[in-house]
Amino acid sequence: MNTYATINKGDGLDPGLMTLVRCPACGARALESDGRALVCASCQHRYASEHGYVDLLDLSRGEPTPSSPEQRLMESELIARLYERIWRPAFVRIVAGRGASARTGGFPGEFFIHKNALAMEDRHGAWLDLSCGPGTFTRAMAAAAPGDRVVGLDISRAMLEVAAKKARGYTNISLVRGDAHELPFVDGAFGGVNNTGALHVYDDPDAVFSEILRVLQPGGVYVGSTFAEAPTMLGRLSARVAGIRRFQPPELRAWLSRIGFADYEEIRLDGAFIFRTRKP
Ligand SMILES: C[S@@+](CC[C@H](N)C(=O)[O-])C[C@H]1O[C@@H](n2cnc3c(N)ncnc32)[C@H](O)[C@@H]1O
Repeated sequence: MNTYATINKGDGLDPGLMTLVRCPACGARALESDGRALVCASCQHRYASEHGYVDLLDLSRGEPTPSSPEQRLMESELIARLYERIWRPAFVRIVAGRGASARTGGFPGEFFIHKNALAMEDRHGAWLDLSCGPGTFTRAMAAAAPGDRVVGLDISRAMLEVAAKKARGYTNISLVRGDAHELPFVDGAFGGVNNTGALHVYDDPDAVFSEILRVLQPGGVYVGSTFAEAPTMLGRLSARVAGIRRFQPPELRAWLSRIGFADYEEIRLDGAFIFRTRKP
């Protein structure tokens, strides 16, 4: 049995996911499952579902090329396997300091801030974990909202394969390969978007913010975390070598407001910060 079927039962293309997706090639809400793939009834594009995720990248434009040294590492099978236990805690600690890298109950401590900021207990999804990596937050979100569908999206095959293995046994997780700059989801698909530790690797955050606004329901919440200033010389050097873009909270607040978000708030965790904003 393939992994995706193990996670999602049936033909691997869960009905809960099918209501959320649209064809990345033509934008039509016309994707249909043939049991092994999604096929667009409008433009006939075919999107494979194997290794535990549906590949909703429009590959007629070619495979995306990683544009930063850090993103090249995110595509490596070795780093994907080591990411959750070793790479993430060490990297966050070096670049953002001890306060940003604490763990609580098996999850990064910051998850509890994200979960509260998303108001997962008071609201209903679906929920999107954007740039989910190996699915650390996807699984935590799925556990926090067992009645809702949680979609983890990433561009890295290696990360998604690890995420699929770790998501075995969660019936409300769907994993999708896609590009944050052109999300393969219908307008207003999600009640909340979680976006941890990924803003610094996007080529065009403006396009990503616009897409997040589009796929949120009115009143939907966008919660993210990213790097501000590295607190130490080693952190500043590592951030430079990794090609990390850093954000200043006032800059991000103005940026998100220009895109159309409202009610921006933030919490500082050493050299990182968590922000929450809302689609009006
Ligand atoms: C530093 S990891 C963060 C993973 C996870 N959110 C976490 O906090 O542990 C950044 C992730 O962003 C993904 N990513 C980079 N560019 C992307 C894009 N254009 N679209 C979707 N995901 C992207 C990478 O593949 C990687 O898994």
